[in-house]
Amino acid sequence: MSLIVSGLTKIYGEQRAVDNISFEVKPGEVLGFLGPNGAGKSTTMKMLTGYVPQTAGKASICGYDVTSQSMEAKKNTGYLPENNPLYPEMYVREFLLFTGRLNRVKSCRSRVAEMIELTGLKTEQRKKIGLLSKGYRQRVGIAQSLLHDPQVLIMDEPTSGLDPNQLADIRNLIKELGKEKTIIFSTHIMQEVQAICNRVIIVNKGRIVADDAIERLQQRSSDEITITVEFKQDADKNTLQQIAGVKKVTSTADKKWQVTGSAGLQEAIFQYAVRNQLTIVALSEKAQTLEQVFKDLTKNG
Ligand SMILES: Nc1ncnc2c1ncn2[C@@H]1O[C@H](COP(=O)(O)OP(=O)(O)OP(=O)(O)O)[C@@H](O)[C@H]1O
Ligand SMILES: [Mg+2]
Repeated sequence: MSLIVSGLTKIYGEQRAVDNISFEVKPGEVLGFLGPNGAGKSTTMKMLTGYVPQTAGKASICGYDVTSQSMEAKKNTGYLPENNPLYPEMYVREFLLFTGRLNRVKSCRSRVAEMIELTGLKTEQRKKIGLLSKGYRQRVGIAQSLLHDPQVLIMDEPTSGLDPNQLADIRNLIKELGKEKTIIFSTHIMQEVQAICNRVIIVNKGRIVADDAIERLQQRSSDEITITVEFKQDADKNTLQQIAGVKKVTSTADKKWQVTGSAGLQEAIFQYAVRNQLTIVALSEKAQTLEQVFKDLTKNG
């Protein structure tokens, strides 16, 4: 396993910022770490990278415990922190050489050149970091996290605040990196997870509320469907509610209804119409989106 997390917990005062979470990540997996603001994503990542100590639980990276074998664990980890703190007064190449040497990267010059190439920084390498656009600053952070060729990459919101072009570029870069490395990255955007990862963990209030392959999560979303139906005649809410599998019925307009229930609902509504001598004027299915799954899993209360 590239990463094993077991019962990891962080308590700040009264608050359980991360509450007893456990998961494993296999080599080569690209895992999306999704959750609303304050869910505990950054705190989890900080514990995995040794920046804050955990209150309880354990984590290991490539077999090295992040607490008792922190040096070895760090050698195998690349970390792009939230908000990507950099030295604005340094030049791109100078900064990468500096951090590379600090981390005793072998053949530092050629490695820096390689990472500049890989992250698309060639045209910017002689600029001051403070003068770079956000997307390019993000690339510098990614280049830095890759310098020591770690097996596991932990990226905290690598795409936040990027324009659509930069967003696509950085997503592609992550995808490309994912062919060789194990990646965990956090985001608020469900579509991003869909575009990049094979697996997603959704956290809410410090706890894991879903840990699944993307397709499985989509299937989960289609367990329940919503159908909009319009009859030519007046229908009765009570009898609609008695259709097998129906969970909720709302009247949306005159003779128009929105019916939510389990799969197979369409057929049941047809049969209902026949039984009650109603004519269906229109019927359409509103599939639950992944966005909706995320909302359902992370809503308060
Ligand atoms: N140093 C700290 N002291 C006290 N509380 C903290 C500290 N760091 C984080 N927290 C709290 O822990 C909770 C989780 O924060 P965290 O930054 O991990 O969330 P997040 O999922 O990364 O959110 P976002 O999507 O906004 O980045 C929040 O309620 C936050 O206020
Ligand atoms: Mg965060």
